[in-house]
Amino acid sequence: MPSIIVVGGFFGDEGKGKIVAYLASHDKPRVVARGGVGPNAGHTVVVGDKEYALRMVPSGIVYEPARLLIGAGVLVDPAVLLHEVQSFGLKGRVGIDWRCAIIEDRHIEEDRKDSELRYKIGTTGTGCGPANADRALRKAKQAKDREELKEFLCDVPLEINRTLDQGDIVLVEGTQGFGISLLYGTYPFVTSKDTTASQIAADVGIGPTRVDDVVVVFKAFPTRVGEGPFNTQIEDQEAEKLDIVEYGTVTGRKRRIGTWDGKMAAYSAMINGATMIALSGVDKLDHSCRGATTYEELSPKVKDFVAMVEHDTGVAVKLISTGPELSEIIDLR
Ligand code: GTP
Ligand code: IMP
Ligand code: MG
Repeated sequence: MPSIIVVGGFFGDEGKGKIVAYLASHDKPRVVARGGVGPNAGHTVVVGDKEYALRMVPSGIVYEPARLLIGAGVLVDPAVLLHEVQSFGLKGRVGIDWRCAIIEDRHIEEDRKDSELRYKIGTTGTGCGPANADRALRKAKQAKDREELKEFLCDVPLEINRTLDQGDIVLVEGTQGFGISLLYGTYPFVTSKDTTASQIAADVGIGPTRVDDVVVVFKAFPTRVGEGPFNTQIEDQEAEKLDIVEYGTVTGRKRRIGTWDGKMAAYSAMINGATMIALSGVDKLDHSCRGATTYEELSPKVKDFVAMVEHDTGVAVKLISTGPELSEIIDLR
């Protein structure tokens, strides 16, 4: 399918980075574009024994021929971006829409000093909320105003829509998750923008009629970092016993862990307009399934879980991730 959007179905950190990296290396898109809030996101991509933690550039870096774009809706922290371009050797591949709003030092300071943001919401402290507020007030600087970004500036919607016109594949990576959407999440314990597929499409300049597939990523054990309600949360000790403890990519905070929430998954799949589900972390349900690449290898417990996910959401599970590494996946498309 020519245009594919990948979004998070729970509270973020569902494994979008891994799924996007797999789709990029398997489907060979001409363009991989990033929508979403900004460098508050942390996507982990594991290839062999190499692990990449990406905050600004799309997880499509693993497929070398792909052009890597950052959509106008995304907030850019120039220091984070330049660091990633340099450390992963991405010069020449990365394009930033000239309209991206810029995170300045004062936004980061405000995010960290404001006690509501820091303690009540538990933000990532990356300046995203204050920068989006300035954008709404029309005070934010844009990428075009920054000298050090000059060489990256482009028109992302033009590049993407031309690529689609030519029949080539465009893969779009969302960030965060449904439960922390400004519109549909657990307000006020949310991020500073909507996180659903419609917003991600708008971020990169794809009209609704041009979206072919929406992949909603759910993890078998949902997690949440920061404050806010989490209906299916389990005790820390239980998570430790199950050996499923996780830490945040950006802040290093311990992630709260919960069990499958079918009601939330159904609502999230509906608003995202899911055409398929990617289910990650099934190896955490049954350690014997780690690294499986065929459905037949899965245990009855995991097969039943997949059936439950499909029953709860009414959407087919087409990708099943069985471990963090890129090749640990079952592709049923
Ligand atoms: P945000 O955009 O910040 O929401 O992040 P994300 O959705 O890209 O997820 P992130 O990489 O922050 O967290 C997912 C974690 O789970 C990472 O450590 C991945 O390496 C890991 N992971 C991804 N898929 C699987 C899987 O199938 N099994 C296991 N055990 N770990 C996985
Ligand atoms: P902010 O986006 O930094 O303002 O943080 C607002 C809330 O969203 C906090 O609860 C954060 O922990 C959460 N959040 C923001 N980005 C991510 C993410 O990429 N993964 C998981 N949680 C996130
Ligand atoms: Mg993350």
